[in-house]
Amino acid sequence: MPIPPRYWKGLGRDVDPIGFGCWQLAGNYSVKEKPHGWGAMEPQDAAQLVHAALDQGIQFFDTAAGYGAGRSEEVLGRALRGSTKAHDAIVCTKTGLLPEEIDTLTLGTPFKQRVEASLARLGTERIGVLLLHGPPDNLAWQELDTKALDGLVKEGKVGTYGISAISLAGVDHVLEAGFGTCVEWVFHLLERRPEKRFPKLLEQGMNFIARSPLSRGLLSERYRRDNPQFSPNEFRSNLPADWVRWTVEHMRALPAQGTNIAEDALRYCLSFEGMSVVIPGVRTPAQLESLERVRHAGPVLPHHRQAMFQNIPDHYPAWD
Ligand SMILES: NC(=O)c1ccc[n+]([C@@H]2O[C@H](COP(=O)([O-])OP(=O)(O)OC[C@H]3O[C@@H](n4cnc5c(N)ncnc54)[C@H](OP(=O)(O)O)[C@@H]3O)[C@@H](O)[C@H]2O)c1
Repeated sequence: MPIPPRYWKGLGRDVDPIGFGCWQLAGNYSVKEKPHGWGAMEPQDAAQLVHAALDQGIQFFDTAAGYGAGRSEEVLGRALRGSTKAHDAIVCTKTGLLPEEIDTLTLGTPFKQRVEASLARLGTERIGVLLLHGPPDNLAWQELDTKALDGLVKEGKVGTYGISAISLAGVDHVLEAGFGTCVEWVFHLLERRPEKRFPKLLEQGMNFIARSPLSRGLLSERYRRDNPQFSPNEFRSNLPADWVRWTVEHMRALPAQGTNIAEDALRYCLSFEGMSVVIPGVRTPAQLESLERVRHAGPVLPHHRQAMFQNIPDHYPAWD
């Protein structure tokens, strides 16, 4: 079944709903002396992945200034510039807010400069989607002075903007305020609460970017048999052990739709019109091939969807 593109009002165009998460392209790095990357990634391997993604028709690439202190943006930008197929690509990147910007509710010149730095690292004149990276959940969105942000849109340096939220409460707060045109948050087989937000998103003409759709890679066939073990130089070595145990236990209890739980997980996300783009993090050519199989298989059908979740909670209870 073909997977229809989703319309993005803020961009005034359709976008393919299978995207590409670029955090993994940053390779190994640390934040405050803790590993924050996903393991080694050579720039030429990253470029090959991006090129193969473009060949498949993938258009949406999600990165952030914070991924490897700009390394993901640099690697992605170089790869896109080195391709003849990148004309339809949309770069979504993120910028965090400084404490003084949060305190004064003002985005001024320093904010604009950080966005200009992202443009320079990406080697482009335009960021398709700019997200504020993890602002406080309860920010007073109506009071935020967005002149600098709106100026970037007017100048054509940014297509549209939104939020990458920390929690579901943050998503709700942004939706209530009607801030921006899009919101990014977690959505996968074991975090299904965003489903209930989709009608409102559609009603408001806002787009939803589904991040961590494989629950940090735990929704993987390999963990049906083996327990996850992560190398100490990747950030997953610090994931809360209880959450990992809970996720693996419930993943194993999910009935298989196809032959591959990761592909089922992506087909589940794609089965909602209110989900605009799903952005699995990709590290290997085999994982990209898996995305191609997802494209051919199409979304999980709604009646299969219901059968998938008997006795499976819609989120990790400790995250209430
Ligand atoms: N605050 C934010 O804004 C935020 C936070 C998180 C993520 N994100 C964005 O969302 C993207 C994706 O989320 P995520 O990085 O948290 O994790 P994810 O997409 O849930 O999981 C990614 C991991 O899944 C595994 N994988 C990928 N394809 C697979 C397949 N076909 N079969 C089995 N395993 C597969 C890989 O793990 P292995 O490495 O083990 O192969 C990969 O590193 C990121 O790249 C980033 O762009 C944004």
